[in-house]
Amino acid sequence: MKKTVILYKKIPNEQKARLASHFNLITFDGITADNRNEVITALAQADGLIGASVPIKQELLQFAPKLKAISTISVGYDQFDVDDLTRRGIRLMHTPNVLTDTTADTIFTLMLATARRAVELSILVRAGQWQGSIGSEYYGTDVHHKTIGILGMGRIGSAVAKRAYCGFDMKVLYTGKQANEQVERQYQAERCSLDDLLQRADFVCITLPLLPTTEKLISKEKLALMKPSAILINAARGKIVDQQALIAALQNGGIKAAGLDVFEVEPLPPDSPLMTLQNVVLLPHIGSATTETRDNMARCAVDNLIAAFKSEKPTQNWVNPAVG
Ligand code: DGY
Repeated sequence: MKKTVILYKKIPNEQKARLASHFNLITFDGITADNRNEVITALAQADGLIGASVPIKQELLQFAPKLKAISTISVGYDQFDVDDLTRRGIRLMHTPNVLTDTTADTIFTLMLATARRAVELSILVRAGQWQGSIGSEYYGTDVHHKTIGILGMGRIGSAVAKRAYCGFDMKVLYTGKQANEQVERQYQAERCSLDDLLQRADFVCITLPLLPTTEKLISKEKLALMKPSAILINAARGKIVDQQALIAALQNGGIKAAGLDVFEVEPLPPDSPLMTLQNVVLLPHIGSATTETRDNMARCAVDNLIAAFKSEKPTQNWVNPAVG
């Protein structure tokens, strides 16, 4: 008998058809206050879930007594309480690898756009205010030959290091629980403490997962260690940075600028002080948002879900193999 699966995100038709051929498929366009009751009704029969960008915790899981597998269409899995899923015997799969290069590209997009003030100057051109050769008040700052500090040297951190060293002749510093010998060998990367990195880097790029240990890691005190000329780039998770402290540092010259793809609260509320600052580039959480990569993520997540119901053995994308 076919298992019942709830799809709670729009995915390409090809992948939806694959799901429909393997499972009894119930689809929702997100999970919101408007459809919550319908979702709760569907959860009673669900064996599996597939989707993204919605917290799936006790509040919903209590209505899903049969649930055995969740496939998130994301690399990050901070929308879940992994220990609780493990206790409940629910397998969680994610989509690493397929988005590594695209996310590293987003980080470089933010670095370049922020350093060269591309958004601010584009707005000026569109407003008809380009009236002659740009004066020094609009000059940007170089990226090439500077020092980049990468927090976390996993898949995405390594891809950023490659771009920085091979493409921009940058000195690469990084933090990590363990040394990454490959990046040290290939990109002359130097592992150092967080404080040392913050004091030396011209660009501080966060590539860490959101965990209890990384929440508000970049606090007021840590921001104060950064050079006034330094630029902070965050395309990981907003809650890793104390956003209020960041706003203060951007307002009082504590740091030069920030390029942000992620925020404490998403979507960013229209009254956020970040909206009024010239020295920030704001993106709407587009780390992996290219057509190719989002297609690959959907395919990977569908593969993961099918494998979870077929195989007894954990696959490489299995977050909590302890479930078995
Ligand atoms: C991811 O894959 O984790 C992206 O940040 C989307 O949430």
